[in-house]
Amino acid sequence: MDAMTFVLFGATGDLAKRKIYPALYNLFLDEKLPSSFSLIGLGRREISNTNFQKHVEESIQTFSRRSLYESEDIKGFLQAFRYESLDVNQLGDYERLRAAVEELETEMNLPQNRMFYLSVAPDFFEMIAINLHKSGLSSTSGWKRLIIEKPFGRDLASARHLNATLSRAFEETEIFRIDHYLGKPMVQNLEALEFGNPVLKALWNKEFISNVQITASETVGVEDRAGYYDQSGVIRDMVQNHMMQLFMMTAMQPPASNSPEEIRKEKSKVMEALRTVPKEEMADYIVRGQYESGEMNGHQVPGYTEEHGVSSDSMNNTFMAARLLVDNPYWEGVPFYIRTGKRMTEKSTKIVIEFKQEHKQENLSPNLLVITINPNESVTLTLNSKNPLNDGKIEPIHIGHSTKTEEVPEAYERLIFDAMKGDATFFAHWNEVELSWKWIQPILEAFDKNALALHKYPAGSMGPDAAEELLKKDGFNWW
Ligand code: BG6
Repeated sequence: MDAMTFVLFGATGDLAKRKIYPALYNLFLDEKLPSSFSLIGLGRREISNTNFQKHVEESIQTFSRRSLYESEDIKGFLQAFRYESLDVNQLGDYERLRAAVEELETEMNLPQNRMFYLSVAPDFFEMIAINLHKSGLSSTSGWKRLIIEKPFGRDLASARHLNATLSRAFEETEIFRIDHYLGKPMVQNLEALEFGNPVLKALWNKEFISNVQITASETVGVEDRAGYYDQSGVIRDMVQNHMMQLFMMTAMQPPASNSPEEIRKEKSKVMEALRTVPKEEMADYIVRGQYESGEMNGHQVPGYTEEHGVSSDSMNNTFMAARLLVDNPYWEGVPFYIRTGKRMTEKSTKIVIEFKQEHKQENLSPNLLVITINPNESVTLTLNSKNPLNDGKIEPIHIGHSTKTEEVPEAYERLIFDAMKGDATFFAHWNEVELSWKWIQPILEAFDKNALALHKYPAGSMGPDAAEELLKKDGFNWW
């Protein structure tokens, strides 16, 4: 791997502490960092290098999956971390930073390979990109890359604006948009499952599949993020990004090769074929919900509008279910259903593929392929089989495989490692992001105008009844 300088904006923030430092440390333990690696952390406060290194060490101690004692040279690792204070709005600060980066490159004899990671609020993305460009920091004789994390805009127009600004300093191939769902091992495994097995590959189409159901349910409520969440809702927080990525990864056709370009091309094709939700029929496609108080684990929890920081008349969405139709020859007539929400029965992310039945017989269950992404990873196939212990009655049996997840590298380890290698396969391409916003935009507008009923659901349930109806109309039910 190329030697590089890692420039981290938001170095004292929450994401850096919880995810980025532990990920870098685990990469270091696995000898996956470049031999010459140095990081410059940036933040508004003045902090000495020593105190910054202490902060990194504490973050690792608290959040890393492997302990500090597993390394024989933790001091050497921490010495690669330096700190500079910077006000993101001040061009002069970037010029000072450029001098510091160049000094480090000379001192350590590093090529001018620079990785800029913006671990800051999205409101700062554009300002930082402009200043990186103006200060010359992004003009390097080596490579340069930008890592940013969702949300990429609030709607189609702002996402386009953001992208146009970023494009002034970085090419599309240099921008690595993190969607942490793409870092989950089972999501990265989807393509291999779908197309690495002739038996599934042959069935992965409308001839054999009756419908697909993608669920990401969460038990947590709004937590202490009301300020952000009340403005975003589940549609921006989960659907536009994570759910659409899961959908693309499931509905894509076999790529011509395993290159990032081919895989991302196939994902974009799915989005291009995704039917726009007709305004007049929105209720047949979309269900939005908001949790009310309810019982979870024996405790009564407050409803969304009773949460701290949420106004009592908030019409924000905390649940969304949708029916997606793909107008291409592979999926014509096969509904893909997605649902996600806060304060649901369980924390779980899974994809259920329901296969068609030759003759609908009452005593036969449909074959199901269940791909569980979270909390444990597993793949289960449900088949019908006679049970000799029950008078030979035909009953569903489950063939399954599950992976132990404790040992597996975390999403951020995989994604940071890929970005360092320059492998963009599991990052969101601008086409995917834009097409996803295009599909979302009319729904957002309907939500904003309250043109669609807001269904209440009790905390601890699997969402409003309307989400059940969505499938019932098509003759299906959620598995
Ligand atoms: C984040 C959302 O992107 O994903 C959170 O902002 C959500 O609201 C989280 O809780 C879910 O991620 P995971 O990995 O726990 O399923």
